[in-house]
Amino acid sequence: MPPKHHIFVCTNQRPPGHPRGCCADKQGLNIYFTLLEEMGKRMMHNDCFITETKCMGPCLAGSAVVVYPDAVWYSIQDPDAAREIFESHILGGTPVDKYRMPEEALNIMPGPPAGGIQLGG
Ligand code: FES
Repeated sequence: MPPKHHIFVCTNQRPPGHPRGCCADKQGLNIYFTLLEEMGKRMMHNDCFITETKCMGPCLAGSAVVVYPDAVWYSIQDPDAAREIFESHILGGTPVDKYRMPEEALNIMPGPPAGGIQLGG
């Protein structure tokens, strides 16, 4: 049986000074481990999957977190926000509007690099 929720958490790390920044610098890994802890202490391993990701696109805002099947994008920078999202959205079914990713951040997702994507080699 598929899980009720699947949470994707960006923990991508870029070199210091990179113009796009990265979620690793915005508590991405702490947010990921906080969500795992919230799931684990409730033994919800069959109801909720949590997956660590590389860049999902909108990295100018806070750390990117997406909850499916609702397709709610969050932008957060501290583990307390992750706990609040887990309690309200995952357990209670109510997304936390104050942490939703700004629409403008979702509209700046980068396309493929000029010259296309190089595979292999
Ligand atoms: S580095 Fe996390 S969304 Fe881009």
